[in-house]
Amino acid sequence: MADSPYPELKKSHVPERVGRPWTDYKPPPSAPVWAVISGFGSYHVLVAALELGVFDALAARGAAPGVPPVETAKGLAESLGVSAPHLEALLDSLAVLGLLERVGGRYSLNDPAARYLTTDGAASMASLVPVAPGPLDNWSRLADTIRAGRPAEAIDNDPADFYRPLVEGTFTTMLRAATRADFQVRYSAMTAPRVLDLGAGGAPWAVAVLKACPGATAVINDLDGVIEVAQRTTAEHGVADRCEFRPGDFHTIEIESEGYDMVVLGHVCRTEGPVGARQLIARAADALRPEGRLLLADYFVAPEPQWSPHSVLMGMTMMASTIHGFPITAAQVAEWLRDAGFETLRLIEPIGHQFVYTATKPLKPRAEGP
Ligand SMILES: C[S@@+](CC[C@H](N)C(=O)[O-])C[C@H]1O[C@@H](n2cnc3c(N)ncnc32)[C@H](O)[C@@H]1O
Repeated sequence: MADSPYPELKKSHVPERVGRPWTDYKPPPSAPVWAVISGFGSYHVLVAALELGVFDALAARGAAPGVPPVETAKGLAESLGVSAPHLEALLDSLAVLGLLERVGGRYSLNDPAARYLTTDGAASMASLVPVAPGPLDNWSRLADTIRAGRPAEAIDNDPADFYRPLVEGTFTTMLRAATRADFQVRYSAMTAPRVLDLGAGGAPWAVAVLKACPGATAVINDLDGVIEVAQRTTAEHGVADRCEFRPGDFHTIEIESEGYDMVVLGHVCRTEGPVGARQLIARAADALRPEGRLLLADYFVAPEPQWSPHSVLMGMTMMASTIHGFPITAAQVAEWLRDAGFETLRLIEPIGHQFVYTATKPLKPRAEGP
C-alpha cells in the first residue's frame, strides 16, 4: 500500500486497517527529512526579514520582549513600505521559527530576536546571518565538490572579499567569547602581556586582552583588505595605540622568536587542513616565550560526530567553500599541539558553542624518549 510522506496524513496506519495495536506497523516519521527541506526556506525567511529591517522596525516601535504585542502586519508593512499580506506570511513564519512573538495577530520581538537579530542587540548576529554559510552557490554544487574533491569557486581565490564581511559579522560573538574566557584563562592577571593574533579578523581576542590589561601590547595579523577591520575595531575600543598591524600571509610574515606571552589562532585552523594547521601551531610555539600560552579557538568535532552537530556543520561550511577546509576533531588538534611541544592542554567553552584549547609552552623542551 502506498504511503504518504506527510507525517500528519498517516491515517492508513490505524489498527482498524493494518491489524491489532500489537501487530501494528508504524513507519518512521519523515519529520527529519522535512526539517532539512524547510531549513532552506527558514534561512531565507530570516535573511529577508533582516534585509527588510523587520526586527529593527519592531524595536523602534517599542514592540519589545515582555510587553504585549501591539504591532500588526498592516501597520508594520506601512512603515516598511512593503506588501502587507506578503509581510504577514513572513512574520508568521518568523513566529513559527521562534524568532518573533505573535499574539492575536499582533507581533513583537521575543528575547532571542532582541538579543541576536536587531542591529543594536547585545550580541547582534544581524550582519552575520547573510554571510555565515559562505557563497550560497557552493552549497547548490556540493555534490560536485565531493566528486571533484574541491569546490568549483573556492573563496581562497578572493579571500579578502569573503572574510571581510564574515569577520565583521562574527566580531561581537567572538569578543564576548574572548572576554568571558578570562574567567578560565585569567589573562587579566598578567601585567604587560605581549599578544600575537594571527588571522585576527576584527581582532576580538587582542581587543579583549588589551582592554583587560592596560600594559598589554599586540601584534595583529591578517590579509591586506581584511586587516582594516581590526584597525577600525581596535580604534573603536580605544586600544589601537597599543597595536602593531602586520598585514600578510600568516605562513610567511616575519614573527619574532620567543617574543610573545600569548599567541591566538582564532578560527583559522579549520580552513588550513592538517599540514597548514600544524605549520601555524609550530609558528605559534616558536613565537612564544617559555611558559607562554597558545589560545586556539575553533569548532572541534567530538569523538562521536553526532555529539557535536554544530562543529560538524561548521566544518562542512568550510569544506563547501575552501580548498583545504574540513571539520577538525578535538583529538586531532590535541595531537598537533602535543607534537609541537605544548603541555597542559585544556579545552574550555567560554560561551555556548565556542570552544578554545589553551596550551602552554614548557620551560624546557620535552626530553626525547629512549
Ligand atoms: C574565520 S576568520 C577568524 C577571525 C578571528 N581570528 C576570530 O576568531 O574571530 C579567519 C581569518 O583568518 C584570515 N586568514 C585566512 N587566511 C590567512 C592567511 N593566509 N594569512 C593571514 N590571515 C588569513 C582571514 O582573513 C580571516 O580574517
